[in-house]
Amino acid sequence: MTETVLLIGGGGREHAVARALADDAELYACASNRNPGIARLAAETAEIPEESADEIVDYAERVGADLAVIGPESALAAGVADALDDAGIYAFGPHAEQARIETDKQFQREFMTSASVPGCPGFETFDDADAAADYVAAVDHDVAVKPAGLTGGKGVRVTGDQVTAAEAVDYVRQSDYDEWVVEERLVGEEFTIQAFVANGALRATPAVQDHKRAYEGDEGPNTGGMGSYSDTTRTLPFMTEKDYDRAVEILRAVVDAMPDYEGVLYGQFMLTADGPKVVEFNARFGDPEATNTLPTLETPLLDVLTAARDGDSLPELSFAPTATVCKYAVPEGYPTDPDGGSRITVDEESAGGATLFYASVDERDNGIYTTTSRSLAVVGTGETIAAAEAEASNALAAAGDGLRYRSDVGTAALVQRRIDHVTELRGE
Ligand code: AMP
Ligand code: GLY
Repeated sequence: MTETVLLIGGGGREHAVARALADDAELYACASNRNPGIARLAAETAEIPEESADEIVDYAERVGADLAVIGPESALAAGVADALDDAGIYAFGPHAEQARIETDKQFQREFMTSASVPGCPGFETFDDADAAADYVAAVDHDVAVKPAGLTGGKGVRVTGDQVTAAEAVDYVRQSDYDEWVVEERLVGEEFTIQAFVANGALRATPAVQDHKRAYEGDEGPNTGGMGSYSDTTRTLPFMTEKDYDRAVEILRAVVDAMPDYEGVLYGQFMLTADGPKVVEFNARFGDPEATNTLPTLETPLLDVLTAARDGDSLPELSFAPTATVCKYAVPEGYPTDPDGGSRITVDEESAGGATLFYASVDERDNGIYTTTSRSLAVVGTGETIAAAEAEASNALAAAGDGLRYRSDVGTAALVQRRIDHVTELRGE
């Protein structure tokens, strides 16, 4: 029997999920935008905001969904998994309570402490911006200041890195947020590990490194992620097997303390001189990281989802031994003053061997338009990260005018800088 799957979300991550499911399932999708890549793979798409739990349930019932996959954190926070489960439709994605591990950074750190999850930096929580600002003004070490709620990856400021302590104090005081976490600044190299979690089982996927900063050389403001790479094995060139195992042990400790968690658990780690520490957890696939991971996943994604639904042990995962490089093309001015609403032309033929994922664009009668977020991703693959990078770079001719990307993501020079950084930290 063919499974009918409802996919919630219309970004690059969800296009990657759709591509991984399209051959095996009858696919329906809903999102606030019309993503042309998803539309092509789905039997039907509906324009429903990702947070509209009731409308999503109605749509899932109308199309006869056997299960649902939730892409964006906004849907998790709005309780879409809870609402679907209440209606008897299995949702792969945690309930709102468990998604707090991402959606409430105060909860995230307090949970790590109370459950003794290793890798937690020192932190303080505040329910008042002035108190948080006073604390930042008084501490004698670098800190990361974080609004407790969701900010699309753009709310954090790190002193001694992006901003001075005085700028961080002003930022907190002038913000509209009340609830803050102020934590010890972690120094090192960041990496992501995403794991499928259900029925107490955890299946980790290869490590990926994202690039948050807007411009080449890790300059400029934080973004949702400008591009990412993975290697031919589960590790990255700057880390050891032991670092990878340690990070997975941290994810395992989360699941042990939250045995009902179902969905993707995403760990963002800092590889410090003392090993991996937790920058944050997310309750979903990463974007762009899903575009690295899902194209090399050889195990059918549908098998993972149906095992999760049916209470079975999750299948062991197999991955092609292929390096991947994802580069995001974004509207000019992104993220501070993005040029949304512009019509773009995409020459899919010129993507060559790379895979093109449409992201936050909107397809209307007469063309494809940008939104204020990332527009499209190209993913190159190869026997080395450098070969994958070359394929992704060549493919960006497909991006067309009005879009910009980070040319350095995945280049040999930048990867070497990461290796040198960790070597220096470890005093080798
Ligand atoms: P988050 O929204 O928590 O992922 O934070 C966004 C970015 O801020 C991360 O990817 C890191 O680059 C940086 N960041 C967050 N927390 C810390 C920390 N404790 N130390 C250093 N950098 C951090
Ligand atoms: N790439 C960062 C995120 O998905 O949150």
